Amino acid sequence: MSDRFYVTSPIYYVNDIPHIGHAYSTIVCDVLARNARLKGLDTYFLTGTDEHGQKIEQAARAKNETPKAYADKISGEFRRLWDRFEITYNRFIRTTDPDHELGVQKAFEIMLKKGDIYKGEFEGRYCVSCETFWSDSQLLEGGACPDCGKPTTLLKEENYFFRMSAYQDRLLKWYASDENLILPKSRRNEVVRFVESGLEDLSITRTTFEWGIKLPKSANDPKHVIYVWLDALMNYLTALGWSGDEKNMRFWSETTHVIGKDILRFHAVYWIAFLTSLDLPLPKRIAAHGWWTRDGAKMSKSKGNVINPIEVADAYGLEPFRYFLLRDVPFGQDGDFGQKALIDRINSDLANDLGNLLNRLLGMAEKYFALNIKAVNLPRFGEEKKAIDAIVSSLDPLFEAMQLHRYLEELWKIFVIGNKTITDFKPWEKMKANQSDQVAELLVFVANLLAKGALLLAPIMPKKCDEIALALGVAIDAPTRKSLIEQGGWIASFSLTKIEPLFARVEAPLLNEPNAGEASANEEKSNLIGIDEFAKVELKVGAVVEAKKVEKSAKLLLLQVNLGEGKPRQIVAGIGEFYEPEALIGTQVCVVANLKPAKLMGIDSYGMVLAIKDQNGLRLARPESAALDGSPIK
Ligand code: MSP
Repeated sequence: MSDRFYVTSPIYYVNDIPHIGHAYSTIVCDVLARNARLKGLDTYFLTGTDEHGQKIEQAARAKNETPKAYADKISGEFRRLWDRFEITYNRFIRTTDPDHELGVQKAFEIMLKKGDIYKGEFEGRYCVSCETFWSDSQLLEGGACPDCGKPTTLLKEENYFFRMSAYQDRLLKWYASDENLILPKSRRNEVVRFVESGLEDLSITRTTFEWGIKLPKSANDPKHVIYVWLDALMNYLTALGWSGDEKNMRFWSETTHVIGKDILRFHAVYWIAFLTSLDLPLPKRIAAHGWWTRDGAKMSKSKGNVINPIEVADAYGLEPFRYFLLRDVPFGQDGDFGQKALIDRINSDLANDLGNLLNRLLGMAEKYFALNIKAVNLPRFGEEKKAIDAIVSSLDPLFEAMQLHRYLEELWKIFVIGNKTITDFKPWEKMKANQSDQVAELLVFVANLLAKGALLLAPIMPKKCDEIALALGVAIDAPTRKSLIEQGGWIASFSLTKIEPLFARVEAPLLNEPNAGEASANEEKSNLIGIDEFAKVELKVGAVVEAKKVEKSAKLLLLQVNLGEGKPRQIVAGIGEFYEPEALIGTQVCVVANLKPAKLMGIDSYGMVLAIKDQNGLRLARPESAALDGSPIK
């Protein structure tokens, strides 16, 4: 196994501000990079922005800015977001960086010399939004782009072409060389089918706009700029110094590209052909993730349903958000963002299973042992130790296969075992029976499993795991990982430190629906509802025609209220401590008429009577003067 690791995120177009999909790509890379570092690998993590092309030129023009000024601004936003999200990138590359531009020209020159690039006439359709060429058979009805559905433009220009067709066999051979080069496998198979169906040469220059990298001087053809995808893909190489000082090129042979499924073809077909043409080693892995949707729909600015990752992280915490993104959706599949699922994860997995386990350990260790626990060996927990060891050794393969949700699912079993062992062992009874040595043994076992858990969870929740490590007095570093995880060691004694609970439970959504991205700070904190929601409540006036006490209840009265519906409504009301039943007959009350029926003390109730409660007790809310029974309250 290599002692190096290179991970790249896609570089983001600067025509849009960052959203949850971008955050997901980058967070996945960050998790891979942190894990590699913790395993002691020499690691390089690259992210950045993709700044050339017609799409960016048009977006800048629409804002009355130069493309460069516009790119500076949005690229800055991406960089600030990643810094705020504590993303541990080694370089943030911009395709407007001079070393990158030189590298792209160098690649063009090599391919041209080799005969892989030739000049010809291009005639076909182009989608500016996707920066993609399409053949007639691929287009939707009316010539629309098959990816985004937007109209395409007819291009007829002199272009340079890359001999993609010459690479078909070599690409197929590469795919066949290792089934795990492209993940998930279902998508790998799509790529293979696409290449098997034949490859056309690819137009790799444009003459109709200017915002791009010029051809190398040696080509002597100043009106062309290089196609944005050749430019963009090259970032993975130029970032390591391919065109200049090669100090980081040692990482190249250990490359993992993380991308979204929509850009797999560019990476698994074009990029592999370009690299083959340049005689460079091919990546070890291309991992394509799915798309995040909102309530089942694609996110877009026009729909106003874009999720702003900063707002989610501010409201719920960055690390719970990272955990949710990785745990809730299998890598490679699409995921739907919803606050309920996030809250459930926080309350059940984080606060309950993990947070509570640490609290129980610290609470008992403090109460019974002044926070110092010791047990030379753990004879009582043989079975449990074996179970933990088995889980720990099953995790690495899951991580390597990018099964990050399964990794977390299995890891959580460690904490569940911890909680169950405490509950079954009943340490409080053992203490009463003067068996404190057994309790110390239990707590040492729990502290060990938390230490192992923290080492394994650290790439996903680094700060929370630092807190756990502080409480346990262990380090989160490569030597400790080696001893407790790889070598399966167990620690004999701990000197613990009390810390604040790791996670707070969340009782209700913290962001306004449906527009988490646009909710204002004030609205988020209040419980305002819209007029539409209020209009759903049917309020009516009605006279009480019968009233009696509910047997065995001091609080409940059974009322029949005339809401003008022919038959009176039966309503059970909690007003028995304040009203005698007889005094109510013939008086009017206000009723919520469309409440779902409920059973109170076994009696069906078909509505609710409105009342006012303050320090003087409870009074019914009534119309100021008599109204027709069944009149609506607006
Ligand atoms: N600039 C190209 C990538 C060049 S890489 C050499 C590009 N940029 S992008 O900004 O449009 O998209 C960047 C990444 O974000 C892609 O991997 C894409 O799949 C991902 N996502 C964009 N929207 C997404 C979701 N709604 N959900 C998940 N990821 C999505 O493509």
